[in-house]
Amino acid sequence: MKIGDLQDYHKTITDTYDERSANHDKSDWHRTTALQLVEDMPPRMGDSVLDIATGTGTIAFHAASLVGPSGNVVGIDLSQGMLAQANAKLSTSGLRNLEFIVADAEHLEFPPNSFDRIYCASAFFWILDPLATLKHWRNLLKPGGCLGFHALPETSYVWVSEVRNVLANYGISYVLNKPTGSVEKCDQLLTEAGFRKINIREEKEGWFIPLEQAKSTWLQEDHFSPGQHPNPLVGVPDDILAQAKRDYEARLEELNTDKGVWNDISMYYIHAKK
Ligand SMILES: C[S@@+](CC[C@H](N)C(=O)[O-])C[C@H]1O[C@@H](n2cnc3c(N)ncnc32)[C@H](O)[C@@H]1O
Repeated sequence: MKIGDLQDYHKTITDTYDERSANHDKSDWHRTTALQLVEDMPPRMGDSVLDIATGTGTIAFHAASLVGPSGNVVGIDLSQGMLAQANAKLSTSGLRNLEFIVADAEHLEFPPNSFDRIYCASAFFWILDPLATLKHWRNLLKPGGCLGFHALPETSYVWVSEVRNVLANYGISYVLNKPTGSVEKCDQLLTEAGFRKINIREEKEGWFIPLEQAKSTWLQEDHFSPGQHPNPLVGVPDDILAQAKRDYEARLEELNTDKGVWNDISMYYIHAKK
């Protein structure tokens, strides 16, 4: 990807999350799922921890309390808005073993073998090059160090899985969820990146949403498309876009029940060792 395209892609991320930053801590779902990643593989007293795509620092603050004054924690994120929220909490926390840095998860500048634990909650779907990034993160772990992150199954989010299926009929590849879509794919990615002791657990979750709400989620040409830039609809002729949108709506009508359309939001909890 050209530098200009990468800058555009990062701008969609920072615009999106700067706007969401003031409300992010109101999401119990994000907090619970992030802390679960740590609970499955907690750091020890004195450990060095990296929280990638830290957002407002949910994992980073928790890890800082677990590693104690002899340990240290760094939270990185691209969104200055998210980090402003994290730093506001840090300034009143009394913690001295925690810092937040603006950085891109795919191009981190820490020396190799720096961390005992690396976490990344609810952000891996933004990664443009999953395999290279996993290799990069592995390189930052100390030997025996552990990585814990979330990834999305192929079925997650009805507006992703169904848009992907519809677009595939027109030869258009929508990559969101694709690289991590199954346990086998996750296992293969991590193995290829050099990890061992790979553990992948699927947490099933979801709820019904009204049909009209589901229909309103059709991917627009100017919409962001995590893990892929530009959005795969850019440059697709209008008549094909219109037909694909009709196909999407028809598919949602097929899926509709008296309770609405089931929106699967299952997630993989993945832990692996260097
Ligand atoms: C859904 S939020 C999750 C935040 C936090 N991990 C949590 O669970 O509460 C996704 C975060 O990923 C960050 N992000 C996305 N792509 C990134 C990248 N390439 N480098 C650094 N941060 C990134 C966004 O800025 C945002 O703060």
